[in-house]
Amino acid sequence: MHREKKKATMQFLLEVVDILTNYVKKTFDRSTKVLDFHHPHQLLEGMEGFNLELSDQPESLEQILVDCRDTLKYGVRTGHPRFFNQLSSGLDIIGLAGEWLTSTANTNMFTYEIAPVFVLMEQLTLKKMREMIGWPAGEGDGLFSPGGAISNMYSVMIARYKYFPEVKTKGMSAAPRLVLFTSEHSHYSIKKAGAALGFGTDNVILLSTDERGRVIPADLEAKILDVKQKGYVPLFVNATAGSTVYGAFDPINEIADICEKYNLWLHVDGAWGGGLLMSRKHRHKLNGVERANSVTWNPHKMMGVPLQCSAILVREKGILAGCNSMCAGYLFQPDKQYDVTYDTGDKAIQCGRHVDIFKFWLMWKAKGTIGFEQHIDKCLDLSQYLYNKINNREGFQMVFDGPQHTNVCFWYIPPSLRGMSDSEERREKLHRVAPKIKAMMMESGTTMVGYQPQGNKVNFFRMVVSNAAVTQSDIDFLVDEIERLGQDL
Ligand SMILES: Cc1ncc(COP(=O)(O)O)c(C=O)c1O
Repeated sequence: MHREKKKATMQFLLEVVDILTNYVKKTFDRSTKVLDFHHPHQLLEGMEGFNLELSDQPESLEQILVDCRDTLKYGVRTGHPRFFNQLSSGLDIIGLAGEWLTSTANTNMFTYEIAPVFVLMEQLTLKKMREMIGWPAGEGDGLFSPGGAISNMYSVMIARYKYFPEVKTKGMSAAPRLVLFTSEHSHYSIKKAGAALGFGTDNVILLSTDERGRVIPADLEAKILDVKQKGYVPLFVNATAGSTVYGAFDPINEIADICEKYNLWLHVDGAWGGGLLMSRKHRHKLNGVERANSVTWNPHKMMGVPLQCSAILVREKGILAGCNSMCAGYLFQPDKQYDVTYDTGDKAIQCGRHVDIFKFWLMWKAKGTIGFEQHIDKCLDLSQYLYNKINNREGFQMVFDGPQHTNVCFWYIPPSLRGMSDSEERREKLHRVAPKIKAMMMESGTTMVGYQPQGNKVNFFRMVVSNAAVTQSDIDFLVDEIERLGQDL
């Protein structure tokens, strides 16, 4: 009986693997849909053979296999070569294998005691990333965190700890009114960090940008002076390397000059653009990054590492631990038999921490640094191909010229609006075009691409490429699909 059960368990696992490998195959098959869209109420009501309600009694393994299959069936194939919706996309096979292994090991990153190999991999990989940033001998500190938003939050926390360490014990009342600066185009996580950490969003000052979405350094300096004049204390500046919508790179060197002049913490949010450090052709866009005090870099975006994989890298060693450590006696005993500096978990704001490093380390092994470079260069070439294709094409209007990253932002102007002169009515109509086309794309399941308004600009498409499976034919498909779906609007 025992043997029978073991056999059934192994058979079950093999069948799950079969479901997964079939899904992988279909993901790369352009004749399959990107998604099979259903409204929430439809999924909640239950599809044939697939019910989301939890049951009191155990379900059979056959049903569990159906549940696995249908979960994938009604999801979105983010690795499909025609999925352009998010900054993180693609399905890297080595990364996937790494994630499977990670789940199989099912351990926790907080101590060397229970994750010896993963902890060392994390240390080595962070050092390599710091070398790519340009910090001498790769010295410094860092952690993998649950995403760019959290990495950015770390940067604000350690900046505050650097200048006002007493806040750790006494709270914000021990500090004067502190101010953070970030671009109006920066990711909302900086504002969120301001709210969550007790600065208040009123103390997160947004900086003006040029027509390509890059911070204007003179505006930073003017705003610092203004804040000082009011008696508040400027603390932290975030420079974005690859903004979420425009893919803009703020001028880090000029911002660093100002930070040095006024003694402010400089953080570079390279969640999206950090990957360009791997490319000899494109890394100049981050010139000056080595002057930052901290850097966010998400391998799960531009480098195609499966979610989640984000690093916060810090120039000063020891500050993460100083800021966050609580020395819990039950976990971080100082009298273990090994070098306990490898118990890195107390640097984190979490206790338990998922192993995000293995898949990244494995991909780096499999591709080499050169493989990541080729991937980055290819994605940027594809975006240039799209830009060249639609720039000056009838029915398309660019939001800005000369993209810096893979972000290409554009309006599709349906024939009905082409002859119309600029007016409130035209703006309102144009605002509705991208959401309508997107909804039709999703209903038909052919492709997905993001849209948004920005400042006073009405809804436009934001195309991004980070998936290694994308080819020029997929870019052509997207353009054709937008024209097909939008021609009668
Ligand atoms: C520039 C930038 N920073 C931070 C983030 C947040 O990263 P995550 O989604 O991993 O939290 C994003 C996400 O798109 C981003 O574009």
